Amino acid sequence: MNSNNNIQDFQKQMKQKVQKIEDILQEYLPKQRGYQSVIMEAMGYSLLAGGKRLRPMLMQETFCLYDGTSKALRPFMAALEMIHTYSLVHDDLPAMDNDEYRRGRKTTHIVYGEDMGILAGDALLNYAFETAFRAFVIEPEKSLSIGRALAVLGEKAGIYGMIGGQVIDVKETGHTVAKDVLDTIYRLKTAALIEAAMMIGAILGGASEEDVKKVERIAEYVGVAFQIQDDILDVTSTSEVLGKPVHSDEKNEKTTYVTLMGIDEAKKEVERLSNEAITLLHQLPGKNAFLEELLLQLSHRDK
Ligand code: IPE
Ligand code: IPE
Ligand code: MG
Ligand code: MG
Ligand code: MG
Repeated sequence: MNSNNNIQDFQKQMKQKVQKIEDILQEYLPKQRGYQSVIMEAMGYSLLAGGKRLRPMLMQETFCLYDGTSKALRPFMAALEMIHTYSLVHDDLPAMDNDEYRRGRKTTHIVYGEDMGILAGDALLNYAFETAFRAFVIEPEKSLSIGRALAVLGEKAGIYGMIGGQVIDVKETGHTVAKDVLDTIYRLKTAALIEAAMMIGAILGGASEEDVKKVERIAEYVGVAFQIQDDILDVTSTSEVLGKPVHSDEKNEKTTYVTLMGIDEAKKEVERLSNEAITLLHQLPGKNAFLEELLLQLSHRDK
């Protein structure tokens, strides 16, 4: 098979996997009911808009590196996408990046108002944990792993993870940021949830502690590269392709890899980090050609 066919094959597989993830999200989304039903509607509006579903995909693909079977994976996949979506809903609020488009549609606060935008984010965060806790009922015999996975989910989403990164990002808005501070921001605001994705996949798959640590490092490289690529696309892409505004970083006076070192150097850094991730991936016991291709493709992604 030539490489063109390979790419087509990969893209086909990717589409099928995204569809399966969307089915899981549908399954776990709360039904609209009660006087508060607008909140369930707003949660669905943001969650079911076309995201790439990278985090649940990485969770599943990392899980597949191990032999384990686990019914607990599905609620964790849904929970992580809920947390990621809440982070986007809040990131777009007027008090933060003040953006009006996300995933190809108007942002949640534009459609439902700022009050409901804040509450929809809160609701997705809380419901994420309600969803993940269901794993105990689905697979009580895996309680220990589920408990470890929950601890990772909580920490990586919180003040030592994504929220912590957003805090520094907001605090440094309008200032020139030193590279080590910028690296910390990327590691926390973006890489932390990608670390959660891959670590939870490994934990539920039955990986050793040592492997989970390796997986965390792989995901850190992937996550930082992902954010640098996001910064590049903010400058080089279009809002039609991205489904969100371009030049948001310039508007908000953010220091990014692009402002610090220029597009060419930033691209090289994405390449370098992706290669590091793939080298480490080869040190893990299992093989997953799709995961390897996914990590490669991420560094060339155009949205
Ligand atoms: C956007 O994440 C926020 C960043 C961390 C750069 P994604 O690019 O994964 O957004 P969706 O899920 O595809 O909308
Ligand atoms: C956001 O970084 C990362 C989050 C934790 C939401 P950005 O502010 O660059 O993400 P986009 O470009 O709005 O998706
Ligand atoms: Mg932001
Ligand atoms: Mg933003
Ligand atoms: Mg961005």
